[in-house]
Amino acid sequence: MIGTEGKMLELDGIRKFFGPVAAVSDISFTVEAGEFFSLLGPSGCGKTTLLRLIAGIYRADAGSIMLNGMPLGDKPMSARDTALVFQSYALFPHLSAFDNIAFGLRMRRLPRAEIARRVHEAMELVRMSAYAARMPNELSGGQQQRVALARAVVVRPSLLLLDEPLSNLDAKLRDEMRGEIRDLQRRLGITTILVTHDLQEAFAVSDRIAVLRSGRLMQVGTASELYDRPASRFVAGFVGHVNLVSGKVTEIRNGAVTISCRDNLDLEVPSRGLPWTVGAPAWASLRPERLRLGSAAAAVDAKVVGVTYLGSQVTLRLDIGGLPLRADIQNVGQTLPASGDAIRVSWAPEDVIARPGSPDDDE
Ligand SMILES: Nc1ncnc2c1ncn2[C@@H]1O[C@H](COP(=O)(O)OP(=O)(O)OP(=O)(O)O)[C@@H](O)[C@H]1O
Ligand SMILES: [Mg+2]
Repeated sequence: MIGTEGKMLELDGIRKFFGPVAAVSDISFTVEAGEFFSLLGPSGCGKTTLLRLIAGIYRADAGSIMLNGMPLGDKPMSARDTALVFQSYALFPHLSAFDNIAFGLRMRRLPRAEIARRVHEAMELVRMSAYAARMPNELSGGQQQRVALARAVVVRPSLLLLDEPLSNLDAKLRDEMRGEIRDLQRRLGITTILVTHDLQEAFAVSDRIAVLRSGRLMQVGTASELYDRPASRFVAGFVGHVNLVSGKVTEIRNGAVTISCRDNLDLEVPSRGLPWTVGAPAWASLRPERLRLGSAAAAVDAKVVGVTYLGSQVTLRLDIGGLPLRADIQNVGQTLPASGDAIRVSWAPEDVIARPGSPDDDE
């Protein structure tokens, strides 16, 4: 029986090569029991490969994976309490939607009535109750994906692995399903690892997120840690828009650092215990929605060079002494700046994401 407390999955130094290609390089992280953990990154960064390593479909070339304190290789796949939903929803083509979902329960020899009850419950969950008798080739891609999801959760696995399970759904259904997956996961306490390249999806459902790039683990954290404390330029840019500036540390005092950027912009930012050195390069970034218009004490002069009206939000392209900056402001019915206007903008020092080094160090 699997405990509900503590580490469920531990990856240590995992590597996987396909010929000369390192699909996964030296990845280590831990997933707690009951956690909703996402693997996020651009296409080809190794998400599916990593999930398949965890599922035991691939064997790692180096490193170890521990599942409930046992090395992964020790138990055959079928004996494990893991369910995987593939990126391409592989249903049994000769079985109806109902029978596809019932398959795992029949293998476990549950009583007929129990199987019927649980299958119907799972079908309701993914809104497929009306399609029980349909064969997979009579279902749309999104409907097949929902059957695949129902087939995975119906066995109540202790580890659920989802490889982009919502990618074939339309935007509205995807939103609803996100919420439902999350609710179900909470209710049943299923430890879940979701693979996605969709930032909003990862942010909406995850307790923690691992950001991958070219087979490497860039950062693990909660959505707000990744957004407000990105450890690299890549993560800063991957989880949202950023205004990126690079410069040089010119002063360190009382927990604050001054970074002089080109074009005479001096940014004073909290030092946050990072290894700053006077004269060394540093970079800083500021989220467009953290810029404020108006004449606050620390405001600087800016020229509006472009305005994009998006309804609830307006995006301004600004020029601050030659430095291009983007500002996203809420449209609350105020008079909006127009192209060519001279305005003042400010920001809170604690909203600046700043780190020592060159922004390209993680390239
Ligand atoms: N069976 C394979 N043989 C050879 N190379 C592979 C194989 N599977 C994956 N790769 C390569 O390994 C890298 C990682 O692939 P992977 O499928 O894990 O990426 P992914 O992050 O899931 O991408 P996507 O978001 O497009 O699904 C890619 O460069 C891919 O071409
Ligand atoms: Mg993939």
